[in-house]
Formats: sequence, C-alpha cells, structure tokens
Amino acid sequence: MSAAAIADAAYIVAALLFILSLAGLSKHESALQGVVYGIAGMVIALAATIGLATDHAEGVAIVLLIVAIIIGAGIGLWRARVVEMTGMPELIALLHSFVGLAAVLVGWNGYFEVEHHSGTAAQRVALFRAVGGNPTLGLLRIHHAEVFIGIFIGAVTFTGSIVANLKLSARIKSSPLMLPGKNYLNLGALAAFVVLTVFFCISPSLPLLVAVTVVALALGWHLVASIGGGDMPVVVSMLNSYSGWAAAASGFLLNNNLLIVTGALVGSSGAYLSYIMCTAMNRSFISVIAGGFGIEGGPADDTDYGEHREITAADAAELLKDASTVVITPGYGMAVAQAQYPVADLTKRLRERGVDVRFGIHPVAGRLPGHMNVLLAEAKVPYDIVLEMDEINDDFADTAVVLVIGANDTVNPAAAEDPGSPIAGMPVLKVWEASNVIVFKRSMAAGYAGVQNPLFFRDNSQMLFGDAKERVEDIIKAL
Ligand code: TAP
Repeated sequence: MSAAAIADAAYIVAALLFILSLAGLSKHESALQGVVYGIAGMVIALAATIGLATDHAEGVAIVLLIVAIIIGAGIGLWRARVVEMTGMPELIALLHSFVGLAAVLVGWNGYFEVEHHSGTAAQRVALFRAVGGNPTLGLLRIHHAEVFIGIFIGAVTFTGSIVANLKLSARIKSSPLMLPGKNYLNLGALAAFVVLTVFFCISPSLPLLVAVTVVALALGWHLVASIGGGDMPVVVSMLNSYSGWAAAASGFLLNNNLLIVTGALVGSSGAYLSYIMCTAMNRSFISVIAGGFGIEGGPADDTDYGEHREITAADAAELLKDASTVVITPGYGMAVAQAQYPVADLTKRLRERGVDVRFGIHPVAGRLPGHMNVLLAEAKVPYDIVLEMDEINDDFADTAVVLVIGANDTVNPAAAEDPGSPIAGMPVLKVWEASNVIVFKRSMAAGYAGVQNPLFFRDNSQMLFGDAKERVEDIIKAL
C-alpha cells in the first residue's frame, strides 16, 4: 500500500476521533474521555503527516518537520502547565491568532508556488499540477480564489484574536471602539474584498494580494475592537469558529482532507457555540459577528444608588446557620481567588447541617464557556446540585440566602430593569429576589462590562469585602 493511501486511512481514523472528542466534551462526565480522543486523533494525524512527507520530501525537510513539532509541543506543554485558569481565555485567543497567521502564510505560499510565476495560463496550469492540483484552467481559477479567501479569513482571525487577547488580559480597555461610521467601514472592507477577489481570479498579482491582506488585517482589528466587554464571550467563540474556517481554507490549498474536515468541525461547532451564547445573552448573532452592528454605547452611568451595607464573616455564618435554602452564584472572582475548594467545603458543611445548598451558573460567568462548572468539578462539588440559570432562576424568591461569590455582571438587575443599560436584555440570575444576598468582592468596582451594579445598594444586600477565598474560610471557621 502506498504512503498516501496509509495516510488517507489514518486521516479518516483521526477525523472520527475528533468527532468522538467533540461528543465527549459536551458532558461533564465524558469530558476527560473527549480530551483523550482528541489527543489520540492529533497524534495519529501528526504521525500520518510525517509518514506522508517521508514519501516525497528530502531528509532535511523531514528533520525540520520533526524539530518544529518537538519545539511546538514543548512550548504547548509548558504553557498548558503554567497557565492559570483565569488566564485560559486570553491563551485561547492567542492560539486562535496562530491558526489565522498559519492560514495567511499557507495562502501566500500557495501564491508563490503557482500564481506568482509569470507566463501563460497553460504554464500556470502545469505549475498547479506540480503542487498536486487538478490540472484544468477552471480549477486553477478556484485555486486563485482559495488563496485569496484563505488569506482573508486568516488575516481577520489573526488581528481579531490579538485584540481579543489584549482585551481579555486587560492590556487594552474592554469598552467598544466607536469610530464614526463604523458599520460602513466594515461593509466597505467586505465590499473591497469581493471586488479584489474578482480581479484576482481574472488576473492574479502581488499588489492585489498585499491589498487583501492589509484590508483583512484592518477589518479583524476593527471588528473585535468594536465589541464591548459584555459581548466578549461570543467574540472568543466566534474567533474559534473563524480559526476553523481558516484551517479548512488551508486544507483546500494544501490538498489535505483532514485539515478540511477538522477545520469544518471547529468552524461549525464554534459557530454553533456563538449562536448558543448569543441566545443565552439575548444578543443578535448577526449584530455581534458584524462587530457590534446596531449596538450603540450606552450613556455613562452616574446614578446615585445610595449607601451599601456591609456584613462580617461571623454574621454571615449566623445567617447561613439559620437558613433552610442557600444558593451560591459564583463568578469570575471565585476563579481569581481560587475559592472553589473552600466553597466546596462550606457547601459540604452546610449540607451536613441539613441546609439545602445549590449552585446557580450563568452561561457566561467567568471568562470561558463552562468556567465555573470546571472549577466546581475540580473541587468535587456534586453535579446534581449545580444548576443552569434557567433551571434555578424561578427559585430565588423562595431562597433564604444567596452567596454571590465574585460575580457581578451576571447578577446585575440593571440588565433586567434598565433599558438604557449597556447590558440591557442580557438574561441574569435574579438573586435580588431572595430574602438575603451576601456579595463577596474586594471593592465596589464594576464587573467586566464596566457597568455599576444596583444590586449592591438594595435593602436585602450586604457586602462582604475581601478576597473571596479568605472570606469563605473565615465563614467556615465561624461555623
Ligand atoms: P465579572 O462581572 O467579571 O465580575 C467579577 C467580580 O469579581 C468583580 O466585580 C471583582 O470585584 C470580583 N473579584 C475579582 N477578584 C476577586 C477576588 N480575589 N475575591 C473576591 N472578588 C473578586 O464576573 P461575572 O459575573 O462572572 O461575569 C462575567 C463577565 O465576563 C460578563 O460580563 C461576561 O460577558 C464576560 N466574559 C465572559 C466570558 C465567558 S465565555 N464566560 C468570556 C469573556 C468575557 P472586585 O474587583 O471589587 O473584587
């Protein structure tokens, strides 16, 4: 059997493993298995690629390939070991930018292998055949389009992901960039892309390639810069989707079926995740992927909400002792404080005293889809008391005490009550309906979306200031 046939068979096995991996990752119980399938698929794919390369590349190229894999795997393992859970979203955004950059480089390489050579169309067809393409003039035109589209999607993903990385790591402001006529700028860039593609397919040239790269880099930057903090979860999953389509475009250029299949899996699952998140946040999918199209920045909030009240850990413990029902709504601050272990301990102790303790998880709490679920699972909180927002939202009115641990935007009543708020319409956990709300945070600062939270000033709310981990430990001591 030829090396190509063996590689094709291995690619089918790897593609199936990637599908099983996605299926596994969709549930807590099977997530670990999903990760193992993903790793196995990637090992098979890399081995098959090396095997295929040995068939028609020189020894030096194979050595370079293996060295690149070792360096890449080494850096990947190191980053994965040292990254804090709170740093995961920006790391993921950075990894998406690599996929985008790779797609741009593959596109440029495709151009230099075929289109760049002067000569007649017939001579280019011969070059096209030499890189494994199907040798007809019509398919050569498709090659031109593949180069162009691959570079466009890759460059948008590249700069978009860099801006997302900078916003998520708070190195630039998370508020939306509001350039005058921002929607026309985006539409103009798209129109320029379509026109340039037509010209490139008729007569490919280097200036056209440079032009589309510059337009796409600027569009990627502007699209993500225009999206406000509260909508960043959708942007991260949208860039995940774009990186998949960029990989699929590279697969067409490189004649690599596995890259096409994997890219399409990532592209479509990322698009579906973005759609689910938009539904959860009551945002229009189209307006978010179009760089905040139709979303205007709300006025600065200088409302005087009055005074807030404070509570000590000892008094919070007293309140919890007498409560029959407690709901804990964790947010990004629990991840920062790494408070999941004392929170799990507190839950266990309260349940031993007969208190009914449950968790309410907002779909975008934290900085990653499923961020809170991962932390609570790590601390061995039983799955059956961890409920989704929709499952618990009607129960707050009958709850004695809610512990808001490092959450802010996801429990902000302004989203439900103030149509002028920048997060208006986003479904939130209705914690304010409970008899008592204790909010764990270090200051009165706003959450990720930069919006003040009227919850802190309600009559039934009390602030427990300080690091969430230390304060939960203080409550355990007092209990
Ligand atoms: P946030 O609104 O981000 O608020 C977190 C709160 O935690 C802050 O107000 C902060 O207040 C507090 N905090 C930080 N460190 C703390 C510590 N060590 N101890 C105690 N408190 C601490 O949280 P959220 O409710 O989870 O909302 C998530 C936000 O992130 C949403 O706006 C969402 O759209 C956005 N986002 C989500 C994702 C995904 S996919 N989940 C991705 C990107 C962005 P202090 O500084 O006063 O302590």
